[in-house]
Formats: sequence, structure tokens, C-alpha cells
Amino acid sequence: MATIAKRGADVSEVQRLRTDLAVLRQVPRDQARALPAAFYTSREYLEFEREALFRTQWICLGHIGAIPNVGDYFTAELVDEQLLIVRDTTATVRVLSNVCRHRGSPVATLSAGHAARFVCGYHGWTYALDGRLLAAPLIKDGEHFSKAACRLPQFASEIWQGYIFVNLDGAAPPLGAALSPIEPYIRNYHPSEQQFLYEAQEVWQTNWKCLVENFMEGYHLSPLHAKTLHPVTPTGLCEKLPDGDAFTGYRYIFGFVLLFLDLLFLISVKDSRYYREPYAVEYQ
Ligand code: FES
Ligand SMILES: [Fe+2]
Repeated sequence: MATIAKRGADVSEVQRLRTDLAVLRQVPRDQARALPAAFYTSREYLEFEREALFRTQWICLGHIGAIPNVGDYFTAELVDEQLLIVRDTTATVRVLSNVCRHRGSPVATLSAGHAARFVCGYHGWTYALDGRLLAAPLIKDGEHFSKAACRLPQFASEIWQGYIFVNLDGAAPPLGAALSPIEPYIRNYHPSEQQFLYEAQEVWQTNWKCLVENFMEGYHLSPLHAKTLHPVTPTGLCEKLPDGDAFTGYRYIFGFVLLFLDLLFLISVKDSRYYREPYAVEYQ
């Protein structure tokens, strides 16, 4: 069994856990163990993950079916960034900053809606659906301000199989190429043709990894979902998918395939409470 780094008073919590993780990643598969508790409870490590993962990777915000028409929008929060996801007049889906360029009020205050333009409620600055500033009441262009040069910042976004992803720092490599190895597994479900019918949100009082890890495995289906999932997808007929760099999951060996992807789990991440509070897990 691998040796975990000794706890040193001069080693930060994050550095220590990263060293531990590097050791754990080398452990042979048949010796694998659950991560030590600190990975789920350390506030310092959670803060590190927010910056090193949620700000730098592609994060799924929702499905394009939630904003089918020009002017449809929804708002989201991701690592404290306020986001405005909108379909503009060219039917392009954009992920804009939902922070007014004047004094920082939210441009859209509802969780979802439809608008011809966005008018900030504080002083009335008005933005087009693509983020351009259209009007700033009583303020004239001058040497140091130009309406034409002012707009809501836009984040890098990509649509994969109907799902809207954002990359906050704009430096991640293209998402589609990273996920292409999984397409043979889901091709028969025609995901890009699927319709958005409804959404539900749950807030789990737990560290975000508990959800991701739960949706990675079918091991718990028979014991925990004895009356619901077990009759159709018993644990004994689940198998792990071959891992990719950008995905993991499991499938049902016979009949139809149930596929739970890490990335698609994040479809519901519209609220950073999911990863803000690293409470201990409480199963009921
Ligand atoms: S803060 Fe938006 S118009 Fe002033
Ligand atoms: Fe489950």
C-alpha cells in the first residue's frame, strides 16, 4: 500500500493533499481505496478545486432546449461568477457576465426568462442580447468612455450534444475533441435530437465530489434503489465504461444502456452551493 506524505506543520493543507493525491494515483487498481476524508472536508482544498478545476475546465450549465427562442435566457452562478446564458438575435447561444458594467448590479435578476434587451434596474443601462451596450441614460461619449466599446464580457462556451458548457478562464482546449471518444457509446441515443422537457434542482449538503462519484458507479443501484432502479438496472448487470481523459461512467451490460457521465451531472450546477460547503455526507 502506498505511503501517504507525513503531516508537516510547514506544509499547507492543499500541498499536503495534492501530494497525497499524487501518491494515490499510482496505486494499482486492485488496491484502490476511497479518498481520505480530508479531500471532502478541507475548506482549503475546496477553494483550490474551485480555482484549479471549476474555473479552468469546461463546466456544463444546462441544455439548449431551455432557451429555444431568440431572447430566451437563464442565469447561473459558477465560482462566484454571475452568468447570463442567452440566445441572441442570430440564434447564437452566448454566456455573458451578468454584472452591469456601470456599478455591478445584476443585469438579469430572474433565474430564467425572455427579453428583447436587458435593462439594468439600477440606473437603466441597456444591453443587447449579444451583450453590446445600447444605452447609458444621460451619459455622453467622451474621451474616456465610448458606448460602442462597452459591453458585457463574454465567456468561452461550447455546445456539445445539446449541452451548453462554459470555460471561465478561456484557456481550456476545445471540448468536442476531448469528448469525441465517448460518442460511440451514446450515438444510438441521438442526444443532439433530444428535447428539453423539464428540469429539477436538488441541493445536496455535501462536497461536490460525492455527487460526481455517485454518478460514476452503478454499484449502489440494487441496495439503495431496490424498488426503482434495481428492477431495470441491477448492480450485477452494470459495468464500468473504459475511462477517457475527459469522462467516465458506467453502462448496463444488456438491453438498453444507462450512461451517467460526470460532465452531464454538472448540468445542474447553476448554484455554487453544490461545491461551496464541504459538509459531511448524510445518507438517509
Ligand atoms: S449598475 Fe447598472 S446601470 Fe448602474
Ligand atoms: Fe443513485
